[in-house]
Amino acid sequence: MSRIPQRFIDDLLARIDIVEIIDAYVPLKKRGREYVACCPFHNEKTPSFTVSQDKQFYHCFGCGAHGTALGFLLDYEHLDFIDAVKALADTVGLEVPREGGRAPVAMYDDLYQILEEVACFYKQALRESPQAIDYLKSRGLSGQIALDYSLGYAPPNWEHLVDHFGESRLDDLTRAGLSKQSSEGRSQARFRNRIIFPIRDRRGRVIGFGGRVIGDSLPKYLNSPETPLFHKGEALYGLVELRRAQPRPERVLLVEGYMDVLALAQHGIRYAVATLGTATTGHHLQQLFRLTHEIVFCFDGDRAGREAAWRAAQQLLPIFKDGLEARFMFLPEGDDPDTVIRREGKEGFTKRIQSAIPLSDFLFNRLTEGLNTHDVAGRVRLAELAKPLLQKLPDGLFKELMYDELAKRIGKSLDHNAIVPGQPIPNQANSLRLTHSPVRMAITMLLHEPKLAQQAAPPAALNNLDLPGIQLLVEILETLRSNPNLNSVSLLERYRGSEYYRYLLQLMSWRPPDSEAFDLTVEFRDVIAMLINKALEQRTDELLAKERNEGLSPSERGELRVLLTRKTGILATSTEKKDKSAL
Ligand code: UTP
Ligand code: MN
Repeated sequence: MSRIPQRFIDDLLARIDIVEIIDAYVPLKKRGREYVACCPFHNEKTPSFTVSQDKQFYHCFGCGAHGTALGFLLDYEHLDFIDAVKALADTVGLEVPREGGRAPVAMYDDLYQILEEVACFYKQALRESPQAIDYLKSRGLSGQIALDYSLGYAPPNWEHLVDHFGESRLDDLTRAGLSKQSSEGRSQARFRNRIIFPIRDRRGRVIGFGGRVIGDSLPKYLNSPETPLFHKGEALYGLVELRRAQPRPERVLLVEGYMDVLALAQHGIRYAVATLGTATTGHHLQQLFRLTHEIVFCFDGDRAGREAAWRAAQQLLPIFKDGLEARFMFLPEGDDPDTVIRREGKEGFTKRIQSAIPLSDFLFNRLTEGLNTHDVAGRVRLAELAKPLLQKLPDGLFKELMYDELAKRIGKSLDHNAIVPGQPIPNQANSLRLTHSPVRMAITMLLHEPKLAQQAAPPAALNNLDLPGIQLLVEILETLRSNPNLNSVSLLERYRGSEYYRYLLQLMSWRPPDSEAFDLTVEFRDVIAMLINKALEQRTDELLAKERNEGLSPSERGELRVLLTRKTGILATSTEKKDKSAL
């Protein structure tokens, strides 16, 4: 992927105003220091969606949605990262520079162009082929569906593309994967005598085609080869058509075949998309979860279908954040969504969707298959199988409940290692002191007031501290010290895509108490002092233990002496402070 330089993103985020960005989509009202609206991410009558101009951050107190201006465009507009950066840059009249990697998209204009023209040509050819029209009719599809999905037909002869587009376009046709060389060096159309299914990217541009034979010859389906624009493991058939029909679908049904998507649409289920004969990838799922909060996977009930479902579940785990839903439905052997909906109609099919089983049940059913959980060895086995899977889940309530469920099934509670330090964060986490570890407090304060980093001790002093989250804190301190002008949002956005991002977003939702007595600078200094104190204690203990066990080198002995004197010093200052605060 071509990269946008980090400096540009920092600069951009420093220039834009989140209030202006969001207001263009969701009209905001000023209330006190903040702006409010009814939340665009859930249904509500009284506004709990707030946008803070100071923090350049939004937060919904109803559903917990939160993020930056960039995050808003990603979640609300379903843009991808590059498009979202472009959209932000547009609002302040900046041009997005690129460095390295994939060539800028403009290079592919010719490819998009030829693909669009070929799609038109095939669409026209369908109108002119009674045989192709009859085939679609025999599959129960109407002219309206053919139109909605821009279906086409590739004529049977080898030369139809060159005949129509001319030799001069041959290079483009080849690069777009539509034409190939025969062994005698003649160019041949890839798709011949096939129903054509245009495949589009998220912006609606044709990037490739699927083609089905009319009749029984093999191979039954052909797809475009991988091209600079077409990547089978990323594309989803029917996504653009779905978005056109339902911009904000309650759920998306993921099926396996082109014809399944069309048959479902024909019967009024317009929220299905298909992978292109490949396994489901994390990339597919992420695209879908930008559009909806629930995916229903629909597979054949045979062994292959169950295996495919299991593989899809593995892809799901690492991205399965709280608030998302996933369910699995299995069709009778020998059926697919096309045959089922034709036999049972929309109502019958909808019933099946409703009884699809949730991810949690699917996981546990599968894991306990063939195990006797009344027996100790069976329960141990279950724990062994389940733990590596549950560990993949992002931190959150779902993960905790899954561990609870596992504990119930094996009759014992388990320790799970969260990646992030501390306890779950309460929604209005004003009680920073009570619920947060010192590391988390320090990170939270830095997120809110990056300038604090300049007054902190050098991060190296904390480096060896053995506390969860310390690496992240040190990293943030280092980043801020070498980029003194970074604001909160730019700091946060540097972590997009990292395992910490979600965690940092949550910390960003914290609000400092209104109280006059609360001084972030003082609080931060205290927390850092506490951490350094802790680091010194840990080092002292380490040296004392070493002294007992194997003895110290002269320099270690010197270090220990200094530590022991300093330690009393620091303890004295912190007692002094306690006395003061008691006043
Ligand atoms: P199926 O074989 O289940 O076909 O392939 P289908 O969708 O039920 O098609 P009909 O009903 O016989 O027309 C499912 C998907 O697997 C890919 C295609 O994407 C197809 O939609 N596939 C299948 C191929 O890529 N190549 C093939 O030869 C067969
Ligand atoms: Mn089928």
